[in-house]
Amino acid sequence: MNVEFRRADRQAELRSLLLFDRKVFHADAFDRDMWSDVDAWWMIVDGVKAGCSAFEPNEPEPGTLYIATTGILPRLQGRGLGRLMKAWQIAWARQHGFQRIVTNHRASNKSMIQLNRSFGFRKTGRIPAYYTNPEEAAVSMELVLRPK
Ligand SMILES: CC(C)(COP(=O)(O)OP(=O)(O)OC[C@H]1O[C@@H](n2cnc3c(N)ncnc32)[C@H](O)[C@@H]1OP(=O)(O)O)[C@@H](O)C(=O)NCCC(=O)NCCS
Repeated sequence: MNVEFRRADRQAELRSLLLFDRKVFHADAFDRDMWSDVDAWWMIVDGVKAGCSAFEPNEPEPGTLYIATTGILPRLQGRGLGRLMKAWQIAWARQHGFQRIVTNHRASNKSMIQLNRSFGFRKTGRIPAYYTNPEEAAVSMELVLRPK
């Protein structure tokens, strides 16, 4: 299996990002404006855009990497690719000198929350009604990479 990560060209690949996101996130998919605000990375597996990560560096504060999206194409889920992408996200954050990673997930997203926990993320809070369609709370999680 050949796996590579490359930064998405948010202008030239906007349509591809929107299509991918709709397949993975349905009602939670980002709109055009949201994609213009993030640093998007493809995970390419054997030439196929299998996954996508969206970063917001230095949000909500300097030294923090906010991960806005972690998605694997539905037909390729459950084969270890999400775990591989999470490991890459953490390595990327370390290489770029971030002190911590923060992320939010639907409270019902047990597989993502469990995946994060397995890498050492801990729950830091709950934001009521963060998501819509259906309305649901977000669980906020963080991974401290190096103490302040
Ligand atoms: C969450 C997601 C990124 C995980 O990617 P994946 O490739 O399916 O996950 P993996 O095969 O690497 O499995 C990683 C872990 O997820 C969990 N998991 C995966 N599939 C699961 C399933 N069907 N049921 C329960 N847990 C599951 C397991 O804890 C697994 O741990 P293990 O490696 O110890 O077995 C992927 O399913 C996805 O894109 N989901 C839709 C988008 C989403 O909800 N993203 C997160 C919010 S940003």
